[in-house]
Amino acid sequence: MIGVLVSGEGTNLQALLDDGLPVSAVASNVAGARALRRAEAAHVPTAVFALEDYDDREARDLAMADWLEEHRVELVVCAGYMHLLTPAFLRRFPDRVVNIHPAPLPEFPGAHALEDLLAAGATESAATVHYVDEGVDTGVVIATEPVPVLPGDTVETLRERVHEAEHRLLPRVVRELCGR
Ligand code: GAR
Repeated sequence: MIGVLVSGEGTNLQALLDDGLPVSAVASNVAGARALRRAEAAHVPTAVFALEDYDDREARDLAMADWLEEHRVELVVCAGYMHLLTPAFLRRFPDRVVNIHPAPLPEFPGAHALEDLLAAGATESAATVHYVDEGVDTGVVIATEPVPVLPGDTVETLRERVHEAEHRLLPRVVRELCGR
């Protein structure tokens, strides 16, 4: 079973759902995230673990890990989840947490990777799936799909094409990791 962590729009979650993968739980740090409505529409259980409801990040992450385990989650997919996971969470799912990132790693980590990539004059981005460790986008890369930067690209136009690549790559990699 797959648990998906989301913070925003949820188009990558949608790609997993549309692919028929066994998503049993969707958790978010953001109440009202559009991604939660996508999960509800697919009749997948959802829960919100907002930082302000807990003493600290570790307490929040342990509550989230408990909830995911109650839903028999074996693989955790961060799909636009914009908080760092604590070591306490990662220990609960050793080598079973992956993330989708819109740019090559380790070159362009962080929340503004496409802005940084365009500012650096790079000619190519890449949808990137990697294991999550304690750093910011520092875990081992599992698979990538290159996305060329085109003349006149803005962050928005590039992001749109990276999204298309992500929606192909993520379900394929997750399917392989689940042995399906
Ligand atoms: C995706 O493009 C993903 O690569 C990015 O957030 C977007 C979420 O879109 N993640 C990061 O930048 C993580 N560093 P979605 O909510 O529509 O799936």
